[in-house]
Amino acid sequence: MGIDVSLLALIRKPLQRGLKPWPVVRPLRFAMASGLLVGCWALVISSGVFESLVAAASPPSFSADIAPILQKNCVACHSSSTKMGDLVMDSYDALMKGGIHGSPIVPHNAHGSRMALMLEGRVEPRMPFGADPLPATDIAMIEAWIDAGAPGPAASETTKPLTAAPIPEIKTEVPVVSPVAAVKFSPDGKLLAVGGYREVRLLDPGTGKVIATLSGHADYVRSIAFSPDGKMLAAGGGPPQQWGEIKIWDVQSHQLLKTIQGHNDCIYSIAWSPDGKLIASGSYDKMAKLWDASSGKELFNLKDHIDAVFAVAFSPDGKRLATASQDRTVKIWDIATGQRLYSLSDASDGLTALAYSPSGDRIAAAGYDKTIYIWRLGKDDGHLDQSLIADEDSILSLVWGLGGKVIITSSSDGSIRFRDAATLDPIRVIDHQPDWVEALSMSPDGMRLAAGRFNGSLSLYDLENYKEVRGQIMAFEPRQPTAANENKQVAQ
Ligand code: HEC
Repeated sequence: MGIDVSLLALIRKPLQRGLKPWPVVRPLRFAMASGLLVGCWALVISSGVFESLVAAASPPSFSADIAPILQKNCVACHSSSTKMGDLVMDSYDALMKGGIHGSPIVPHNAHGSRMALMLEGRVEPRMPFGADPLPATDIAMIEAWIDAGAPGPAASETTKPLTAAPIPEIKTEVPVVSPVAAVKFSPDGKLLAVGGYREVRLLDPGTGKVIATLSGHADYVRSIAFSPDGKMLAAGGGPPQQWGEIKIWDVQSHQLLKTIQGHNDCIYSIAWSPDGKLIASGSYDKMAKLWDASSGKELFNLKDHIDAVFAVAFSPDGKRLATASQDRTVKIWDIATGQRLYSLSDASDGLTALAYSPSGDRIAAAGYDKTIYIWRLGKDDGHLDQSLIADEDSILSLVWGLGGKVIITSSSDGSIRFRDAATLDPIRVIDHQPDWVEALSMSPDGMRLAAGRFNGSLSLYDLENYKEVRGQIMAFEPRQPTAANENKQVAQ
C-alpha cells in the first residue's frame, strides 16, 4: 500500500528536525509508545495472569505468558543489537544461553535464578534497569514458570523472534550532516565541546580545528556538561523511547571513564553540580535524576513533572536543582533530600531552556510560547518578576551571561537576540541565521558566543562587536546516504 508522499514528508520533517520534539512529533511518538509498546501486550497479560495463577493447572507457557513480559519490558536492552550484560532475549534459546554470568535461569529453582533475583532487586542492578520494578504478578508468573522447569515453546508452537518495539528509522537519501545538538565551552575557555550524532568533537575555539572526537554514544548527544575543574566532560543523550545515556570522558586523555544508563527515554539536558559531586539529568520520560558523579549511582529520581523534562540547572550555591518541562512548569528541588520545594507555573506552553542568574536569586526560562520568564526565587516559593514575548517563534536556547547583565536567546525565527537582563530591553540582534540555533554557549571570559545550528554548522561571535570571528565551522563531516529505497518500507 502506498502512502501520500506529502504526508510522509510532513511526518519526516519534524522527526528529523526533532532534536527538541516539536508538538507535531509528540502525538506520533505517544501513539507509538503507548500503542505498540504497551497496548497489545498489556491486554494479553491482564487477561491471562490471574487465570493462570489461580488455576495453576498447567505451568505458564513461554510463548503465551513469558514472552509478552520480556517483549514489553526487556527486549529493548536485550536484543541481538543492544545485548546489555551480553544477554539476548530474542528467543527462548538465546535467553537460556544467558549473558556475562551464564544462564540467568536455573530450571526448577526460581530463587537460585539470577533473572528472578534481579527482578526482585535481590541482585543489583534491579531489572528492568532504570525503570519501575515489574508488577508482582509478572514476577510471580516468571518464577512459577522457572519453578515448573522453565519449559520452552512446544514443538507445535510457531515462535516469532522477540524484537524491540519498531521505531521507524528514517533513512536518508542525500549525504547528511549531523545537527549540532549541544555546545559548551570548557571552564578555562580553551576547548569548545560540540555534541552531534553519536559523537562529541573537541574544538580549539582559537583556530576552529578539531582536537579530538569522542565516539561511541548510542544516539544524539543532546547536552554537554564539564566538571567544574574542567578535567571531565559528561555527554547526555540516548536512543528515543529506549533509554538515557551519560558518558563521562577524561578531557586530557580522551578516555571514556564511565557510561551511565537510566531513564526510559532519551536525555535532553544534563548539568554538573558546582561542587563536582553530582550530575543531574532531565529526560523525555518526565523524570529528572541526580547521579553520584564518581560512582555513577542514581541518588534521586525526581518525579513530579507530567511531561518531558527539557532543561536542568543547578543553583550557583549547589543547594537546589531547577527543572523545566514541556508541562509548562519550572520546578525547584532540594538537592539534599530530593524533595520538590515549589513550582513556577506562569508559562503558557512547554519550556525548553533554563538559566539561573549568576547570583542565584533569579531564574529565567523560555520555550514554545516565545516568551522569556524571569522569576525571583525565595526559600519556599518564587514569583514572576517579569516576562516578555521576546521572539517571533519558539525559543530554543537561553544563556544568562556577562556577569548577569545580558540574556541571550536563540529562536526558530532565525535570530540570536541580546537583552538587558534587568529590563529585557533589546541590545542587539544577530539575524538571518542559516538554520535554527539549537545550542548557545558563552566563553567564561565573556568574549565569545558559540552558536551551534541544526544544519551542522557552528559560528563564534565576538561579543564586543557582535561579528562572526571567522567563517562558519563544520563540526561534523557529512555522512553518506543509507539505502534510499528503504524509505518505502517505512511508509507501508
Ligand atoms: C534499560 C535497559 C535494560 C532493560 C530494559 C533491561 N535490562 Fe537487563 N540488563 C541491562 C544492563 C545494562 C545489564 C548489565 C548490568 C550489569 O551487569 O551491571 C543487564 C543485565 C541483565 C541480566 C544479567 C546478565 C548477566 O549475565 O550478567 C539479566 C538476567 C537481566 N538483565 C534481565 C532483564 C530482564 C528480565 C529484563 C526485563 C524485565 C531486563 N533485564 C530489562 C539493561 C537492561
